[in-house]
Amino acid sequence: MKLFNVYPRFNINITSAKGVYLYDENNQQYLDLYGGHGVISIGHTHPKYVQKLTQQLNFIGFYSNSIMMPIQEELASKLTQQSGYDNYKLFLCNSGAEANENALKLASFHTGKRKIIAFNKSFHGRTGAALNVTDYPKLSAPVNKQNFPVCFVEMNNKEHVINELKNGDVAAVIVEGIQGVGGLDMPSDDFLTFLRKSCSQYETLLILDEIQSGYGRSGKFFAHQHADIKADIVSIAKGMGNGFPIGGILIHPDIEATSGMLGTTFGGNHLACAAGIAVLDTIKNEDLIKNVVEINAYLMEELSSITSIKQLKGKGLMLGVEFDFPIKDIRSRLLYEHHIFTGDSSNPNLIRILPPLSITIEEIKPLISALKQVVS
Ligand SMILES: Cc1ncc(COP(=O)(O)O)c(C=O)c1O
Repeated sequence: MKLFNVYPRFNINITSAKGVYLYDENNQQYLDLYGGHGVISIGHTHPKYVQKLTQQLNFIGFYSNSIMMPIQEELASKLTQQSGYDNYKLFLCNSGAEANENALKLASFHTGKRKIIAFNKSFHGRTGAALNVTDYPKLSAPVNKQNFPVCFVEMNNKEHVINELKNGDVAAVIVEGIQGVGGLDMPSDDFLTFLRKSCSQYETLLILDEIQSGYGRSGKFFAHQHADIKADIVSIAKGMGNGFPIGGILIHPDIEATSGMLGTTFGGNHLACAAGIAVLDTIKNEDLIKNVVEINAYLMEELSSITSIKQLKGKGLMLGVEFDFPIKDIRSRLLYEHHIFTGDSSNPNLIRILPPLSITIEEIKPLISALKQVVS
């Protein structure tokens, strides 16, 4: 059987990884500044992570949500401590799209409303509801079209949001902490404060999609915490499991659970929770959020000395390096000549940098010299 050919792939076979480095079958080392779409948070094959997962697997890897799961409670309690989201509740699932699917469904259950406000260039996943609030019409099949009303508005445009809220029936506003696929645009602090206030005023839930920007990547636990606001629902995935598939939503205490309202077979299984706990412990024990802030300061200074860079976007270690020409060739040369993995986005002129949060200045230095060479 052949693979269903939906992914453009680099002709590279990675067979092992350690920290910020990947190794192919010839033992060629690559610097991983993309973490497989922003998934690797604490570094590849972190010893504490490997140990935790191995130990867990030797006890029990999986059982369904039909039994008591103290390991889920341990994860929830650590997440509360580290995120500052006191009294919220946690629902666990397996991926980012699934987290948003549940967030949107819950907002509609809770408010009894149907319409969703989302933003231009947003990406929330490829399943039914998540795809419907994703601003890439090409990803939708006929079955996906129009299953509930969605209004896409311009990022940071208050008037447009208010007009839509006034029209009524809005269950939720969904916004990324920092847009990933869209090219690192983000809601300003002032706009997030406005969204918080307006959602409360119109009895609409505010959903913060922190699937890519969360878990310390922005220099705070969640990117929206730079604006000092709280969402009603926060969706999480990617860095949460450092590669183990796990996602979830943090749910406001006023939103009540009823039996069977949400559910999943695999979500919150023992092994996934062990991965989630190892990630949280490592972020805390290694002070990784502080490291993000320090590496960001270094990168901002070094990158701003490269004159052909038009703009630096994003926060922390979720950065967009924008040129005024397409980056396809630069990215290829970074990979094949300098052995550095970077990412792209829907903006053809922007390179996306999403390294492990544990990266050091010494480890990231080669990016600066390689960029200088490929743009000169
Ligand atoms: C902000 C955001 N939300 C949701 C998703 C979907 O996550 P997944 O691919 O795990 O379904 C992504 C994936 O890139 C994302 O960046």
